[in-house]
Amino acid sequence: MKSILTLSTVVTFLLTLVAFTSPVQDPWDAPAKYKTMKNKYAGEDVDDIGKDLYMKHCKSCHGKEGYGDGTKANELETEMKELGTEEVQGQSDGELYYKSIIGRDEMPSFEKKIQSEEDRWMIINYLRTLEE
Ligand code: HEC
Repeated sequence: MKSILTLSTVVTFLLTLVAFTSPVQDPWDAPAKYKTMKNKYAGEDVDDIGKDLYMKHCKSCHGKEGYGDGTKANELETEMKELGTEEVQGQSDGELYYKSIIGRDEMPSFEKKIQSEEDRWMIINYLRTLEE
């Protein structure tokens, strides 16, 4: 009985280890309500607000052009997609809003740092200019 318990503990431990060290990244899907969220500022970047905020908050990881080559990029374990690619640009404004503002794991949340709804959308509009 004792050895079965020990064995199951070891197996559980190993499975957890595999789950945490697995190089395969979970797909990142924004919740439905964000996917269809409307960007009422679409296409605008008044006074380069979005660009400035990107350079201030995002460049350090994503790099100036969104290639994922910012100065902090080497410290990250999560792979970043290039922001100008079809894989990223093919997503709706709402999906990009969700990922940019709410974040997950190593992609930080900007809910506190960037509170203005208008500023948030200006960043999304700036991301659109990175399209290749
Ligand atoms: C500390 C580093 C870091 C900073 C700063 C950062 N990001 Fe990220 N970002 C990441 C990482 C890592 C991922 C990949 C996350 C994942 O797939 O789990 C990511 C993913 C994303 C994605 C999702 C792309 C996709 O579809 O997979 C978007 C959009 C994004 N970031 C936008 C931004 C914006 C906009 C800012 C600034 C407001 C920003 N990021 C700041 C690290 C960062």
